[in-house]
Amino acid sequence: MAAACLKALLREWTIPEQIVGGDESFGPLWHVPFVSIPGFVGRSNELKRLKKVIFDPRARRIISILGLGGIGKSRLALELTYQIKSEYPQYSILWIQAAQQQTFEKDVLEIGKKLRIPGIEDDKADIKNLVKQRLSNPSTGKWLLVLDNADDEALWAKPSDSTRQEHLFVQYLPRTTNSAILITTRARSVATLLIGKEVINLGSMSPDEAVKIFVYELKTPDLTSDLIADRPTILTLVNELAYLLLAIVQAATSIHMTQRPV
Ligand SMILES: Nc1ncnc2c1ncn2[C@@H]1O[C@H](COP(=O)(O)OP(=O)(O)OP(=O)(O)O)[C@@H](O)[C@H]1O
Ligand SMILES: [Mg+2]
Repeated sequence: MAAACLKALLREWTIPEQIVGGDESFGPLWHVPFVSIPGFVGRSNELKRLKKVIFDPRARRIISILGLGGIGKSRLALELTYQIKSEYPQYSILWIQAAQQQTFEKDVLEIGKKLRIPGIEDDKADIKNLVKQRLSNPSTGKWLLVLDNADDEALWAKPSDSTRQEHLFVQYLPRTTNSAILITTRARSVATLLIGKEVINLGSMSPDEAVKIFVYELKTPDLTSDLIADRPTILTLVNELAYLLLAIVQAATSIHMTQRPV
């Protein structure tokens, strides 16, 4: 799964907790579990549109990135968070790994701790509601909440039967007039769930961009190497991989691993 691959790729880049977290509960919070990764390619229109929705005073500021597994949704969201951090430093950025109930609840608890919500670590604390209330209070300041990999319709989409109501996690999403929610998902039903949402249908990279990513991920210092010079073969390869970035990154990584001197 692309999410797992991205996580594996990023593991070595993970920032120590004291740096990502900090105790700055009254300043902007930064809860993003990955550092900025070099080598981001393209997606400039999508980044513009994301910022337009997130900072438009008239918009409802809910936007989803919808697309196939491995097409680049999470990486786009990550790039956006780092751009916002540098362009709008007054914003808190809160990243929730929404693929599973456990990761969702863990991130919500971490955010609650960083917000220094009294009683958040108590055994019987209603963590999700406490965090929702705090974030819904305008005095908490401006924030962008990212729900990454919210693919599981059983957790996020409208339940088809009432017995699954307790899993409708969308009820825990805070709303204020000056904050924004970004969802990355493979599921159209999740992307279109919230009222007033906008959806970016994330398409494939262009052949040129796909080649650029492949070459970058080869991590070959010798840019005149036979493989890199053979552009037609690389174009055929990325085409056969249907321009799916996960597959392209994996192909380049495995070539890098096998060609690396031992
Ligand atoms: N714009 C980009 N520039 C460079 N590399 C990219 C870009 N977009 C994605 N990638 C790389 O492609 C791989 C797959 O991307 P990503 O994990 O974001 O896909 P995804 O759509 O979130 O997949 P999933 O649905 O499984 O979560 C990752 O290794 C990522 O770093
Ligand atoms: Mg993803």
